[in-house]
Amino acid sequence: MKTMNAAVTYAKENGERFVDELKALLRIPSISTDPERTADVRRAAEFVAAELRRIGMENVRLIETSTPETVLAPSSGPAQVVAAREGHPLVYADYLHAADVDGKAATTVLLYGHYDVQPPEPLDKWKTPPFEPTERDGNIYARGAVDDKGQMWMHVKALESLFAAGGGRLPVNVRVIVEGEEEVGGEGIAEFVREHPDELAADVALVSDSEMFAPDLPTLCVGLRGMIYTEIEARGARTDLHSGMYGGAAPNPFVALAQIIAGLKDDSGHITIPGFYDKVSPPSAAELKAWRELPFDEEHYRETEVGSTVLTGEAGFSVLERTWARPALDVHGIAGGFTGAGAKTVIPSRALAKVSMRLVPDQKPMEAFAQYKAYVEKICPKGIALEVRLIHSGDPIAVSTDNPYVRAATSAMHTVFAKETVFIRSGGSIPIVGDFIRELGIPSILMGFGLPDDNLHAPNEKFHLANFHRGIESIVRFLASVGEA
Ligand code: BES
Ligand code: MN
Ligand code: MN
Repeated sequence: MKTMNAAVTYAKENGERFVDELKALLRIPSISTDPERTADVRRAAEFVAAELRRIGMENVRLIETSTPETVLAPSSGPAQVVAAREGHPLVYADYLHAADVDGKAATTVLLYGHYDVQPPEPLDKWKTPPFEPTERDGNIYARGAVDDKGQMWMHVKALESLFAAGGGRLPVNVRVIVEGEEEVGGEGIAEFVREHPDELAADVALVSDSEMFAPDLPTLCVGLRGMIYTEIEARGARTDLHSGMYGGAAPNPFVALAQIIAGLKDDSGHITIPGFYDKVSPPSAAELKAWRELPFDEEHYRETEVGSTVLTGEAGFSVLERTWARPALDVHGIAGGFTGAGAKTVIPSRALAKVSMRLVPDQKPMEAFAQYKAYVEKICPKGIALEVRLIHSGDPIAVSTDNPYVRAATSAMHTVFAKETVFIRSGGSIPIVGDFIRELGIPSILMGFGLPDDNLHAPNEKFHLANFHRGIESIVRFLASVGEA
């Protein structure tokens, strides 16, 4: 208790410096999907490692990863699987000297976060540049502010505060694993977890990469959707053709993609892939009741968060059910052909679409992909050759709410927010949480401090600074109380 309070005091006294350091990290454009940013991504990893070392963590190191990569052939040929590409490094650190409690070995907490970020485009929509962190109205604006550099930094600063309060000791055993490929679904971390489970052995994982349901409302996320991210490549004629000479006779791969995509859902928003819903398990009556009691205003959500004239989706389900507990299918981009200024009359020989599906318990990514691929091939118009590829996948997650760590987390947040915690699910995906369950056999506490309007993956991403500080305090209290138990 003494350490806990001293750590909270330290965090409060050093809060401004913590923000300054975070700004330095946010200035590094660690965009994991952009090959031109590879050096910056590594610089971000080194920045995090250096700080973990400075605050007193041990065995701090970068772990190299590799990832199999598929690339599109430059001409109209099929895509090629290029051997392993160098992946972005993991950052590892530990402190394993916490004292036993009543003859029982000390608890070990695995802290997870990611230092990579999404691309910032479209740049002209940012009020201040994405990699020049700027404070406005109590928020810090930058790409990665909340997803996930700012939240990962809360972990590091909570550890620093506990070290300072404990005279160089922590009240609990801690391992830290921070990855640089979360935003691209990289397999590097999953492979490390699979191959070296002993190096990450822990009792529980703490993940701060999610949101609170509403401002001032402490939240634990207890479910995440899984996903399969796919690419459909359609090829028609051998080469690009003059659309006047051949239009009416040659197949058009864009029209084919449009027909395929349109065929994946019916008019009521239901995905038409045969068997796709077979394994979908509905939320419990208790869960549905709890969701109905959450402060949710659909009109406000439509107007301020989505900003569209209507909300779409499967008929017969509420917005929270549709985004948390039902699968979804979206198209992210269609590429190829002519998109330059003016007009070019061409029938392109090839077109590409990026299509993903969000999965819910108990759907299995590989099974869903096989169903999807078979159906896409079946509804493909004649004259078009298809390649349907899986880019990455992750399991849907349901985490238990009945364990001492959940109680420690809610009690920590109760002290900070003076409110009862709400349990929600999120529509987003954090694939590694599934590997923590499967490979390490540990539950995760998904204690995130983002807000619904933080603009994740969008222009003007922000982190509410009050939540950064309340997050650090909550994590300090959580870690210290887990150590005492
Ligand atoms: N932090 C998000 C996921 C998230 C967002 C969880 C909001 C809970 C609430 C994460 O960085 C993310 O964007 N994940 C990707 C996963 C993917 C690329 C494998 C996603 O959900 O699209
Ligand atoms: Mn994230
Ligand atoms: Mn993200």
